[in-house]
Amino acid sequence: MNAQELIATAKTMVAADKGLLAMDESNPTCNKRFAALGIPQTVEVRRAWRELIVTTPGLGEYISGAILYDETIRQQKKKDGTPFVKAITDAGIVPGIKVDAGAKDMAGHPRERITEGLDGLRDRLAEYSQMGARFAKWRAVIAVGDGIPSRGCIEANAHALARYAALCQEAGLVPVVEPEVLMEGGHTLERCCQVTEEVLRTVFNQLYSQGVRLEGMILKPNMVLPGSACPKQETVDAVADATVKCLLRSVPAAVPGIAFLSGGQSAELASARLNAMNVRFESYLPWALAFSFARAIQQPALELWQGESANVLEAQQALNHRARCNRAARRGEYSAGMERVSTTRSIPAVAKPAA
Ligand code: 13P
Repeated sequence: MNAQELIATAKTMVAADKGLLAMDESNPTCNKRFAALGIPQTVEVRRAWRELIVTTPGLGEYISGAILYDETIRQQKKKDGTPFVKAITDAGIVPGIKVDAGAKDMAGHPRERITEGLDGLRDRLAEYSQMGARFAKWRAVIAVGDGIPSRGCIEANAHALARYAALCQEAGLVPVVEPEVLMEGGHTLERCCQVTEEVLRTVFNQLYSQGVRLEGMILKPNMVLPGSACPKQETVDAVADATVKCLLRSVPAAVPGIAFLSGGQSAELASARLNAMNVRFESYLPWALAFSFARAIQQPALELWQGESANVLEAQQALNHRARCNRAARRGEYSAGMERVSTTRSIPAVAKPAA
């Protein structure tokens, strides 16, 4: 492992007020999002969607890194055969790769899941590194409900995250460590805060045990939110305060950046909450507070695209707009007014890629 390179890559991933674009949905997840909009679920349509994303003009102004899925990292642009990894790199975006094999039901722990994928990971990381990936992602999911999460679930997921992170650093890839406390459920903001703190403390204990260099990783946590079915929803500022309080208690200052997942929040709320954190706390935070959104960047564009080549330009404008809103949120410069500004202003007209 070249520690200086790892640290430099991690810093680049959160530099210049940019953030990460998660476009690493597994085929079943991508198909589910397509099906909800009546978009055909084939390898070619998934490729076309990813081509639309990676060819969005101006994306590199706002996005520092893009997380790909195994199918996507092997794909190319239709017209000229340019590999997506090259298209991304040429746009000034660092390519990354999802390397977990998904969350599976956990034995002996009803309603809880454990993320798999450690077997053979060393070899897969070497291959992805050869293909141009400079960072990786592994997602653990923690459900909140009656009697859950259990210590067993938290510890097993934290241990897997730490073993993955150590293997990534050995291979020269920056690990994005993603323990996601899920939004589903009727729990309160306070309960989410308590669970998130416990999860993060356990994850960092495991990262220490496995010898992971904190300066060469990125944490990708959930924001601290009330459950989606909780009758008491909270203000943007209350979410920002609870999230930062929780992170200050549990994330070491050596970590260069925290890049939130969006987790099912609306695109606008995710931007507004990130913005509030940076407005209220930026001057005394030890780490950058950034984004690593999938749905909160892609969803509005996907709804416009509908799988139709005629809609590519409009969808790219929407994608560019969300990326721009989130860079503004990192600067504490996002406002609801940005949502009313025409999304066509900041993006030059371009030739349409094939849908
Ligand atoms: P969402 O932003 O849609 O939660 O996705 C982030 C992610 O990468 C999940 O692993």
